[in-house]
Formats: sequence, structure tokens, C-alpha cells
Amino acid sequence: MTKPHAQDGRPRSIRITEVGPRDGLQNESRFLPTKSKVAFIDALAATGVDEIEAGAFVSPKAVPQMSDSDEVFRQMRRAKSVVYSALVPNERGLERALAAGAQKVAVFTAASETFTRKNIDATIAESLHRFEPVVARAQAAGVPVRGYISTVAFCPYQGRIRADQVVSVLRRLIDLGVEEVALGETIGRAAPPDIRRLLDAVLAHLDQDRLAFHCHDTYGLGVANSLIAWQEYGLTLFDASAGGLGGCPYAPGASGNVATEDLVYAFKASGAVVDVDEARVVEAARAVAQELGRPLASRLSQVLDQPGGPRGSA
Ligand code: HMG
Ligand code: MG
Repeated sequence: MTKPHAQDGRPRSIRITEVGPRDGLQNESRFLPTKSKVAFIDALAATGVDEIEAGAFVSPKAVPQMSDSDEVFRQMRRAKSVVYSALVPNERGLERALAAGAQKVAVFTAASETFTRKNIDATIAESLHRFEPVVARAQAAGVPVRGYISTVAFCPYQGRIRADQVVSVLRRLIDLGVEEVALGETIGRAAPPDIRRLLDAVLAHLDQDRLAFHCHDTYGLGVANSLIAWQEYGLTLFDASAGGLGGCPYAPGASGNVATEDLVYAFKASGAVVDVDEARVVEAARAVAQELGRPLASRLSQVLDQPGGPRGSA
């Protein structure tokens, strides 16, 4: 186990990948206009997050909400401090991502056969085969690749997933040459013992500096699980969605990701170094939530302006 401190005893910095513009919006039935998506991304870029997953170059029939990712990438301002990434399911997606100037791309598969079939219409083996030219061409273009593994603890169709099923996909992604692997706790059901079992198995095969943790928050355990991944296993790469927006169209009932502002607050309160302004994250999410006509799921958005809250008078 690696403790979350560098050799000089200082806490290692947490890097946040803001997935709200992709994972947060992909499941919304009301189409958020391109200019609003761009405004959301630009507002998030000013919060201090390290990376923004700004869209998905997937089939517009599969996920209509992401059909304007090409235009979103063209219109957004690009902050120098931020890496702008996108999902790509195949070579066609990669071509679109490269043309749009994505600085990093993510291929995505799962540890569950049924989820993979429903999500990307392939077996796990077929999906990995499909990724071979995608990874090779991205890297030839100087664009690093993340490999997502969804359903790392539970699948909405197959139930509990064993850690060795995750490890087998992880090893194939490493063999393909991805720079980073993201563990997707897709339905937000895992509890700390599940996360420990998973990370004990996975970290025998991949350095924690190349492992990102992507929690959904259906059962409200996303913050607890992320803190365990940091404090007990030394992970420093975390995904989160502003306002807790989101969900996966192929994981019915699953809520959005752990809210960025809640995760940042929890990390800071636990002594981590995180250069993200959680109040600005709430502001960015509020604008989108108002336009979508839905409340924010995050705790911090509810307490921020209350008496006794971080900005309210006591
Ligand atoms: P398919 O139907 O097997 O593929 O879909 P196809 O090659 O037969 O293509 C079907 C149609 O899509 C064709 O159009 C293609 O041209 C078009 P038609 O001829 O019927 O008019 N097409 C494309 N169009 C634009 N860009 C492309 C593209 N590819 C094909 N890249 C496919 C297979 C993978 C393409 C499809 O199933 C798909 O796009 N799926 C995406 C699903 C998705 O985005 N899911 C949500 C993201 S994953 C997630 O949320 C989990 C994660 O957050 C981690 C976690 O939480 O666990 C990452
Ligand atoms: Mg997700």
C-alpha cells in the first residue's frame, strides 16, 4: 500500500478530471444547446480542474446529447492549464476527436459482457480488438489514451463483478499501450470493502500514478470510496462531475458521478492538496442545472450559502 504522501512527507496533489460536460450531460433528455455546453466548459476551466472531458465522439444515434461535440471543441476557449479530453469508441470517433483538437482520448469497455454489449454493441474481446488501431493512431498523433473499464464492482445486468474479471481487462488495456486506466464504478453501489478488494487486485498490475478512479454516487458512497482510494492506496487521479450531474444511458437507475465540489471539499478537509475552487464549481453547475430545470445533487451546493456554511454568516 502506498500512503498519500510523497517521500518529503508532503501530501501528494490530487488531479481532478471534470467529467460533467460528458458523463454529466450524456444522459439528459433535454438537449443542452452547444453554446451552453461551451459556457459550462469555459466556467469549469476557471475552477482549477486539471482535465475536462469535454465531449464524446460516439454515434449520435447512441447518445444524441453528444452529437455536437465537434462544434463544442471548436467553440470552447482552451485554458493552457487544462487538458481537454473526449471519449472515442472506434476509429471514426478518433478521427473526429483529432480533427477537433482533443488533447487526450478515452476508449471504453467494461468488465461485464452484458454491459459492454448494451453500451458499445460488442463483446469485451471485440471492443479491445477495435481499440488496437485507435490507440496506435492516437499515439502516433501524440495524443495520450485513457482506457476506461466500466462495472468494476457491480453491473446493472450481471450483478457483482469479481476483481479478477477487472484485472483481465486491465491487463489487455495495458498490453494495448494505454497511458492511463480509469476504473468506472458505473452504478455507484460499491462500498469500501468492495473498493479495497478491487484495488488490492488491480494495483498488483498497474502503478497507482496511472490509475484513475471514476465513481458514480447512487448510494452516496462515492466520497468515502474516493477517500479510501487516496488515503489507503495512494491514488491521486479522480473523476468527478460538477453538481453531481449525470448518469449512463446504459446503466438504468444509476445516478451521476460523485460531485466535484463534494469530493474537493472532502479531500481538502482531509489534508490533501487540491487546487480547485469548489464554490466556482457550484456556480458552473448551477447555471447548467437551471437551464435543464433540475436541482443539483451535491451536498455542498445545498450548504454553501446557508448560515454556518462556508460562505453563509454563522
Ligand atoms: P454500432 O451500431 O455497432 O456501430 O455502434 P456501427 O459501426 O454499425 O455504426 C452505427 C451507426 O453509427 C452508423 O450510422 C455509423 O456511421 C455511426 P448509420 O450508418 O446507421 O447512419 N457511427 C458513428 N457516428 C459518429 N461517430 C462515431 C460513430 N461510430 C459509428 N464514432 C458504437 C457501436 C460503439 C459506435 C455505438 O454503440 C456507440 O457510439 N456507443 C456509445 C455509447 C456511449 O457513449 N455510452 C456512454 C459512455 S460510456 C459511460 O458512460 C461509462 C463511463 O462513464 C465509465 C463508467 O461510469 O463506468 C465512461
Ligand atoms: Mg461514468
